[in-house]
Amino acid sequence: MTDNPLDDPTADPFQVARAAADDIARLTGVERHDIALTLGSGWGKAADLVGQTTAEVPATEVTGFSRPALEGHVGTLRSILTPSGRRVLVIGARTHFYEGHGVRRVVHSVRTAAAAGAAIMVLTNGAGGVNRAYTPGRPVLISDHINLTAASPLEGATFVDLTDLYAKRLRDLARTVDPDLDEGVYCQFRGPHYETPAEVRMAGIMGGDIVGMSTALEAIAAREAGMEVLGFSLITNLAAGIQETPLSHEEVLTAGREAEPVISRLLARVVGEL
Ligand code: HPA
Repeated sequence: MTDNPLDDPTADPFQVARAAADDIARLTGVERHDIALTLGSGWGKAADLVGQTTAEVPATEVTGFSRPALEGHVGTLRSILTPSGRRVLVIGARTHFYEGHGVRRVVHSVRTAAAAGAAIMVLTNGAGGVNRAYTPGRPVLISDHINLTAASPLEGATFVDLTDLYAKRLRDLARTVDPDLDEGVYCQFRGPHYETPAEVRMAGIMGGDIVGMSTALEAIAAREAGMEVLGFSLITNLAAGIQETPLSHEEVLTAGREAEPVISRLLARVVGEL
């Protein structure tokens, strides 16, 4: 048994999320947040542009959060005040499904954001392009997803409608900032291996445009919690078999670093409109 309360199968994950939200209120001095933002590979700089950081706390001081497993994933929670007076909670500590800690830990940050008051959940990631038009460095709005993890964050007979999961209202708002923003269907694979070329072909045939290892499970939990979801992928590479060279994590990080200034400005402007 670890010291993470979510590893106790008898724990109520929503109660753990409420405890985490209480920690955030105490540590940041901000009682409620309006918007939550999870920053994936390539999106980290957006936090500096959204507004003024009023508090930053190590995620490990907040109930139920784990140490980040990966370089490029910053393990802090930040409270930001936007110029229009909105409070944004920036989550720089994502737990991926492939880490093997279970779905409760994967979606804990989303449930915590909801418990902290956030009505909008913005999820960002780095992903591979299946659609040939989506070349590295491009940000793409997520219009829908295909969950290929064979898992769900919902427990018991919890039937949640996902028809407008990635809210059209928010996608339309994002396009008022950049009318050229494309959108596509995100396929979440379990990872941590990258997909085979055959899996990428399958994803394309099924209607997928983008492949990655996060976001879909978090989006479902956000909708269960009653939040509106906005999703963005940064295309960091062409998916396996679409690009001729092998994939590497280094390539993903490099593409993220190169695109970061541009997409961070974009994201900060979109958050300003929410
Ligand atoms: N596949 C899955 N996850 C990813 C990829 C990819 O090609 N690129 C960045 N994250």
